[in-house]
Amino acid sequence: MNTATQIALVTGANKGLGLEIARQLGRLGYTILLGARDEARGAEAAKRLQAEGLQVHAIQIDMHNPETFTQAHDRIASEFGHLDCLVNNAGFAADWIYNATNVPIAMLRDTFDANFFGLVELTQILLPLIAKSPAGRIVNQSSVLGSLTLHCAPDGGLDDAKAVAYNSSKTALNAFTVHLAHALKDTPIKVNAAHPGSVKTDANPEGPMSVEEGARTAVRLATLPADGPTGGFFHGDQSLPW
Ligand SMILES: NC(=O)c1ccc[n+]([C@@H]2O[C@H](COP(=O)([O-])OP(=O)(O)OC[C@H]3O[C@@H](n4cnc5c(N)ncnc54)[C@H](OP(=O)(O)O)[C@@H]3O)[C@@H](O)[C@H]2O)c1
Repeated sequence: MNTATQIALVTGANKGLGLEIARQLGRLGYTILLGARDEARGAEAAKRLQAEGLQVHAIQIDMHNPETFTQAHDRIASEFGHLDCLVNNAGFAADWIYNATNVPIAMLRDTFDANFFGLVELTQILLPLIAKSPAGRIVNQSSVLGSLTLHCAPDGGLDDAKAVAYNSSKTALNAFTVHLAHALKDTPIKVNAAHPGSVKTDANPEGPMSVEEGARTAVRLATLPADGPTGGFFHGDQSLPW
């Protein structure tokens, strides 16, 4: 078992922001557990990062399938014995053509199942391993679209971004961030929510930012020093309103 190496798990890391967060943490010397729901896509992405000289292992994590969470826990426990960083990055939006008057309930449930309930369950299952790290870090990949303050502000800039299932799943994730940080306030574990910016990925093909820039917020929060913040919501080092 390897207990000396720093271990980081990034979910939804077979592409997009997750892949780049994995790359940037790998370059900082972390051994990366590259989470992907599809084993073949995960293995392919891990191979790409290994070819860049990084220590990367693919691990199956499907946010709709809690069995993969316990399997991941057992594998990390037996191979590494602890987890230093958990970057809860996996997430999706399916409801851009709907609003609060007509979003299909099945879509709302499906979105919350992965973006919120799955994430909460995975985090709870992995917490005992994170508690074994001297400086555990949990990063919840949120979105500025989860900010109720900005949705309510006449000049908040979110009038054209009212995908209620996605947005409210990120609002719930923000609430979980605050509650989990509070529950862990007397431990070294720090819990923060990240907004990456509007980043060009398959989920946001028109995004103006590169994945390299977009990954930086989560990487900063995953590597915070002991006197860094907990229970916050950040883009870069700027605090965002809940
Ligand atoms: N791009 C932006 O502008 C932006 C802005 C704010 C927040 N975000 C957040 O950043 C995160 C990454 O998004 P992205 O832009 O990089 O999108 P992306 O390129 O579509 O990547 C999303 C990742 O999440 C995975 N995923 C989706 N549903 C999953 C599930 N049920 N179980 C496991 N993995 C699942 C995808 O796996 P598959 O390849 O198997 O589908 C993929 O690896 C998301 O949480 C998103 O909400 C993005």
